[in-house]
Order: sequence, then C-alpha cells, then structure tokens
Amino acid sequence: MNHFLTIGEQEPEIIEAILDISVYLEETNEPVLKGKNIGFVFEKPSLRTKIGTEVAINQLGGDVVKIEADLLMANGKAVPFTSRESLYDAMMNVSQWCDAVFARVYAHNTLEKMKQYGTIPVVNALCNLHHPMQALADLLTIRQNFGTDKPCNIAFVGDANNVAFSLTEIALMTGNNVTYAGPADYSWNEDKLSYFSLLSVQYGGSFSNTTNPQEAVQHADVVYTDTFVSMGEEHLFEEKIRHFQPYQVNLELFAQAKKSAGFMHCLPAHRGYEVTDDVMDHPNSWVFQQAKNRKVVSKGVFALLLDENIRKNYLKDTSGTPGLPLKS
Ligand code: CP
Ligand code: NVA
Repeated sequence: MNHFLTIGEQEPEIIEAILDISVYLEETNEPVLKGKNIGFVFEKPSLRTKIGTEVAINQLGGDVVKIEADLLMANGKAVPFTSRESLYDAMMNVSQWCDAVFARVYAHNTLEKMKQYGTIPVVNALCNLHHPMQALADLLTIRQNFGTDKPCNIAFVGDANNVAFSLTEIALMTGNNVTYAGPADYSWNEDKLSYFSLLSVQYGGSFSNTTNPQEAVQHADVVYTDTFVSMGEEHLFEEKIRHFQPYQVNLELFAQAKKSAGFMHCLPAHRGYEVTDDVMDHPNSWVFQQAKNRKVVSKGVFALLLDENIRKNYLKDTSGTPGLPLKS
C-alpha cells in the first residue's frame, strides 16, 4: 500500500493489518511518526476527520502541516491568475517538505492527480465517491460491539453516497451482509450493483437492494445512515429532503431491527432529518464510538504508509518474508 484512496483498491489482508496496527498503536502510542510531517488539505469542512487524525498523528510523534486548499487545488489545471500554480507544481513542492498528504476534495479525480503528480503518499480524507477512513473506523466499531464470530447484517438506510459506498465495500470484503434502502431515483447504478454482487460472491457475504426501509432493517445487527444532503449538494436540499423523508431512522424503524442492533452514523448528524434524537441518543447508538475510532484507525493508516518497521512487520516484502502481501 503506497497510497490510501479507496477501500476497494486494498486487499482484505491490508484492511486487517491496518486494524491490527491501529489497535496496537492506540495502546502503545509508539512514536512511529516522529520526524514525519503530514500535509492537511481540506476543500470542505471537517470536524472528525481533521481533528481525529491530527490528534492521532500527534500521539504517534508526528506533525501536521496545514495547507490552504486554495494554494493547492486548481482542479488539476493551471489557471493563470485565478489560481497560483498548477496542481502538478504544487504537489512537487509539497513533496519536497511533507512525508504524506491527507486531502479532502470535491472530485475523486483530484486525488488521482495528486497521487500521479507528487512523490509522497496521498490519503483520502473524503471525496465525492469514497470515505475510506470512515469505513475503517466503522468496521472497527462493528467488531468491537458485534465481534467477528459471524457475519454482521448491516442495513444502510439513506443516501447512496460516499459513506455508504466505502462502508459497503469494506463490509462485503470482510464477508458481511449489506442491505441498502433508499429511493429508487437515488439508488446505486447498475455498475455499482454489479460490483457489490461481485464482492459478495468473492468474499462470501451478500448484498441486497430495496426501496423499502422496513424490509431493509429486518434481522439487521446494525442500522446505518448518513446525511440526506452531502457537502456540495446544498442546492438539492429541498428535493432530497422530500424524497428521503420516508427513510428517516426513527425509533419506529429502529425497533424493527434486532433488539441488540446498533445505530451508526458517520456524523455530522442532522437531527430531525435522517435520524431522530431518540435513535441518536439510544443506548445502542454507537456514533461517538465511531467518532473515537476515526482517531484510532488514522494511526494504522499513516504508520503503515510511513514507518519502515511497521511495514516490515505487517507486509510481506518482495523476497517473501513473513507478513501480509504488499500490493504496489
Ligand atoms: N464523518 C466525518 O468525516 O466527519 P467530518 O466531516 O466532521 O470530518
Ligand atoms: N456524505 C457526507 C459525509 C460527511 C462525513 C458528505 O459527503 O458530506
């Protein structure tokens, strides 16, 4: 693993390694990032991703360098006088000083360009299509509450967006069952549905798709939702709220899942829209544990990318020494 842009680009063994390293480093806080500078570039607001990851890096002895998004992003193009320099030039500069870049961007393609143009690892802090750091924290949270003995039934009720996509990938790649419920007009396209079917067959879980939220939560061990209106979609507020209103996770819906089911949300939550107070504040709500785990999994990702000893211990090198397979 040389970058971390999506869940689907990783082998399941890498996901397991990240979780193992994360839990280990959360206990020990070994200063494996001492002397490392991580550049933070955020085109959109963030509380959990920015602060949780900054604290994680500090706890491992590393430093965070804040880079104003306007200095780096010109959508991959040089736009003389409206942006200072091309993304290529900016990434080549940042690569001279920083050991990695953690970037939250509007377009996934910007991350691909950053990866191509720079010479340092790029980590996705959320884009329009993926939220892989969230998915790692979600899997860890599910395992801490539900265990690993049997597959978990995860019902995602709400918008088929970045959070739902990365969660579905990680859940299926680790053999779990996912049911998605949302309005037909906002559901997964055929390509995504085929991809999820493929992952189910490959890793032994299952994926199903419905427009009926009640049906989705039957037998669910986890009920998950995300905002109905993502960052950058504010102009769609009225239209989306109208279509998604029947998909609100309220107590009536949550009560139809298993009695032991947990409630999950990546946050920020919009109480009264996608979730009601009584579910957010329910004894089975795991939302703040998820938030805590955002910090924990950041340790595993940056340590695996930047610390030679961690890489050697957890990844098989080219001569085949023990560990996990290293995907280039
Ligand atoms: N869940 C999440 O990514 O939160 P932030 O937008 O606050 O980082
Ligand atoms: N889907 C949301 C997630 C926020 C963490 C968004 O992209 O705004």
